[in-house]
Amino acid sequence: MRNLISLTDLTSAEVERIFSITEDLKTRNLQGERDFLLPGRVLALLFEKPSLRTRVSFESAIAHLGGVSLFLSDDVGFGKRESMEDFARVLGEFVDAIVIRAKKHAVAEQLAQLAGCAVINGLTDLEHPCQALADLYTLREIHGTLRGKKLAYVGDGNNVARSLALGCGKVGVEFALAAPPGYEFDTEFSELLAREVPELKMTITADPREAVADAAGVYTDVWASMGQEAEQEVRQKAFADYQVNAELMAAAPEDACFLHCLPARRGEEVSAEVIDGPRSVVVQQAGNRMHVQKGILAWLLGAPN
Ligand code: CP
Ligand code: NVA
Repeated sequence: MRNLISLTDLTSAEVERIFSITEDLKTRNLQGERDFLLPGRVLALLFEKPSLRTRVSFESAIAHLGGVSLFLSDDVGFGKRESMEDFARVLGEFVDAIVIRAKKHAVAEQLAQLAGCAVINGLTDLEHPCQALADLYTLREIHGTLRGKKLAYVGDGNNVARSLALGCGKVGVEFALAAPPGYEFDTEFSELLAREVPELKMTITADPREAVADAAGVYTDVWASMGQEAEQEVRQKAFADYQVNAELMAAAPEDACFLHCLPARRGEEVSAEVIDGPRSVVVQQAGNRMHVQKGILAWLLGAPN
């Protein structure tokens, strides 16, 4: 039984396998076919923060595969009504997999240890692995290949950036992070990267123009993530020179696309001109969340190879 709490849980070959299942299922989906690879499987969703993409893409994905989803409301009393141990062990008796969106990464790890069923990280403060898989899958669709490409991430070295860096290491993509001093990866995560993906080619710079040079994709995310609302003003100042706008996109190669995990704040981390412009692939990227969730679920819940 496997979990997907961090991209460190997957080997490069497993990422490839998930992409290949995704590609087959997406092609068939576009032909109007549904492949019931997981009939009768039950997926629980346990969310401590709001979500559109992660929630609905997982619910649609399991439905397309012939299973069902249970979105667990506050009524189940996660973290309030009983011990984590009792909650996790009992929930694991009922369902085949749980998607958890947790405020603290350690809570997702604990659930995975206790539940006795597959647990998938649907975002924590530290990582957003399913997002990064969909992002890299999108980059692969656009450029035809991943190995040897470069992804530039401009902005906060947050959960999304961390998972992207790990993912890039797994698939042979160079990762360039442009962040203001103090908002890059911390020492602990830098050490984890060196340990887990020693093959990762990474540059960290304070200069967005340096990061986007030679990039196949330019990525950004909000400056203040969910839970950091109180820091909004401070962060707005710190990141003022890190907006992805037409001028910055002009410093990237002509075929570089613009990516964003969404939700976005136009006029802050990205200009409306860029996110709504011809180089933006954010809708395809969001759509791929569902296709890649199918790949993840089929791989994790043991669809035949
Ligand atoms: N990108 C993403 O995870 O979006 P949601 O917060 O809407 O799930
Ligand atoms: N970094 C953002 C991503 C949202 C999908 C957050 O954690 O709020």
